[in-house]
Amino acid sequence: MRHARRRLRRDLSESASRAATVSRPDPARYPHLFAPFTLGAHTLRNRIAHASMTTRMSADRRVTDALVRYYASRARGGAALIVTEPVSAARFQMAPQKVRVWDPDSEPGLARWAESVEREDCRLLAQIQDPGRGRHERGRNPDAVGASALPDDLSWTVPHALTLGEVERMVQDFADSSRRLQRCGFSGVELSAAHGHLFHQFLSPWMNVREDRYGGDLVGRCRVLSDLVAAIRGVCGASFIVGVKLPGDDGIANSIGPAEAALIARHLTGGGAVDYLSFAQGSHAASLDLHIPDLHGPRSPYVALTRSLKAAVPGVAVMAVGLITDPAEADGILASGAADLIGLGRPLVTDPAWALKAAAGREPDIRYCVSCNSCWAAITEHRSIACDNNPRVGLADEVDWWPGPAPQRKRVVVVGTGIAGMEAAWIAAARGHEVIAFGAGTAPGGKTRLLAALPGGEGLSSIYDYQTLAAKKARARFELGVRATPEDVRSLGPDSVIVACGASMRWPHGFPNAWREEGVVSDLRACMADLLGFTQLQGGTAVLFDMDATEGTYASAELMRRLFDRVVIVTPRDRIAEDVPLVNRLGILRRFALQGIESMTLGEIDAGSSLESGVVHVRNVYTGALTDIPDVVLLTYATPRAPDLSGIDAFASAAPEIHVIGDAYAPGSTMAATAHGHRIGNLI
Ligand SMILES: Cc1cc2nc3c(=O)[nH]c(=O)nc-3n(C[C@H](O)[C@H](O)[C@H](O)COP(=O)(O)O)c2cc1C
Repeated sequence: MRHARRRLRRDLSESASRAATVSRPDPARYPHLFAPFTLGAHTLRNRIAHASMTTRMSADRRVTDALVRYYASRARGGAALIVTEPVSAARFQMAPQKVRVWDPDSEPGLARWAESVEREDCRLLAQIQDPGRGRHERGRNPDAVGASALPDDLSWTVPHALTLGEVERMVQDFADSSRRLQRCGFSGVELSAAHGHLFHQFLSPWMNVREDRYGGDLVGRCRVLSDLVAAIRGVCGASFIVGVKLPGDDGIANSIGPAEAALIARHLTGGGAVDYLSFAQGSHAASLDLHIPDLHGPRSPYVALTRSLKAAVPGVAVMAVGLITDPAEADGILASGAADLIGLGRPLVTDPAWALKAAAGREPDIRYCVSCNSCWAAITEHRSIACDNNPRVGLADEVDWWPGPAPQRKRVVVVGTGIAGMEAAWIAAARGHEVIAFGAGTAPGGKTRLLAALPGGEGLSSIYDYQTLAAKKARARFELGVRATPEDVRSLGPDSVIVACGASMRWPHGFPNAWREEGVVSDLRACMADLLGFTQLQGGTAVLFDMDATEGTYASAELMRRLFDRVVIVTPRDRIAEDVPLVNRLGILRRFALQGIESMTLGEIDAGSSLESGVVHVRNVYTGALTDIPDVVLLTYATPRAPDLSGIDAFASAAPEIHVIGDAYAPGSTMAATAHGHRIGNLI
């Protein structure tokens, strides 16, 4: 135990010195990021913009309190400009989850929305967009409209091709709605022509084969946007901000690559009516994943493209967007001249006070986006936006939240320093409780720490790094490297014990027990903990039996591919990565294709496989037919987990109050773990 305490002091003093070096208040720290900027007739207080994010916080086509709170918090948190989620601005747009701007009844709600943001010295822009034929949900969209009756590349939805009259009416509707937005206090609109949506479909020669004046050459394909910009300017005047989000490179052959994007950008901005441009990548196609980049690729991956497109439109403000998570990165992008504004989507979901904290030199206090895309999964599953690293999205007190004091100080022992235990520990300590947390690992983070070491996982460290610093600030005590016994807990005389000791993968049904007894097969986590120490190619084939279908399993396969000649994933399901958000799944499929990682679906590992001779038989779940995988040097498995609750009764008897949280309560997602820890930390 003494040893563990020594180690803890070292851990925390490392954190402390990191904090000391990066958190010194320095107003000139990010001179570019916090320089004012003239955008059209407006002066923005800094360069930070909230990129459009669908929140699904409106209800029944109306502005809700939750929606107002979400946006007002981002404004209060220091953003100088906010682009809202798409609104329904043309009368054919009937989606129940979007605010219906074309309906005059929406005006009081719109005015409340605008006022709540604008009073914070933040300009509010509504996004005007229609998904057109684009659809990333299962099945076709029978209500889709499009430039041409050509199938969406993902869902194969064939839209109704808008007639000339319908296009003209749509443009008029969008202009009328813009005027209503202006009357209600909005400073402008952003037209989203990126991500494969309707305007993108007009711009792209791959998606637009019209023969009227809205198709044909580049001028024809741009016409819907140029008409719209002119119509909005006509009714809203020069001071109303008009921005356009364009495809910078949609990743589809014969569509819009960087050269075409430069021509489009130049043409659209030629008349001087567009105040700013931003550029995205990907489309509603196999390239969908590119529009929300994650850490399997480089950080800020669009910057080089943005820089070259900015050069095509001298004098036009350009907003950089895409995996810019860190204030220093953002400042550097501006300093290099690649952009004038920084668009932050996911980072401001995770921490609405990102700007305030950066300005105050409080970078370690930022809860950073981990680019897991759970937010995207939430909205595409028709839930309100949510975040793995921000359990308070949309709550009124979200900005720079720190808990208030508990009514009565308690001694609280936390068993387990994974992300559920850590979340509960720091919050309980911040509320004034005396907190002692035991962790079996030598550093906090639990299994998330392992995930963070896998390819693309690095961002996850932000969860436990934040928790560790917050716990230190709140004076929680740690006993690390200690697997606490009920006696350890009892000896501290706690008022409350929180059990957060996680869960372990189950031995796969049908695997011979001898493989376990002889130690020839272990679960994926144990296997990864070993393999992370290997640097040299091992050769042979590694087989991963997948009954998990979440991100970590596929990141592990990528690590394995660096070490083995061949990696085969065997799953009883009909496809891999089913429980991963579609954008991430497409990324996984892309990387697997490029790295040559194979998958065998509808398969189980046959108990007759001979691991000694290196042959795994894969049995088809329906036919029973066997397929052999030769030369196997490693077999491992990722399976549904079982809570680690050995001795739970003894823990329960060690304190008057017990809470079992996180995976120990019910094995679940990262988001479920942080949310559960957050709730119990606040409750206790
Ligand atoms: C959950 C989620 C919802 C989004 N909704 C929209 C949207 O409605 N309109 C839009 O133009 N972009 C949308 N985007 C894309 C973002 O505006 C942004 O381009 C992208 O997330 C990359 O920026 P980031 O790395 O800062 O998140 C969404 C992204 C996410 C993750």
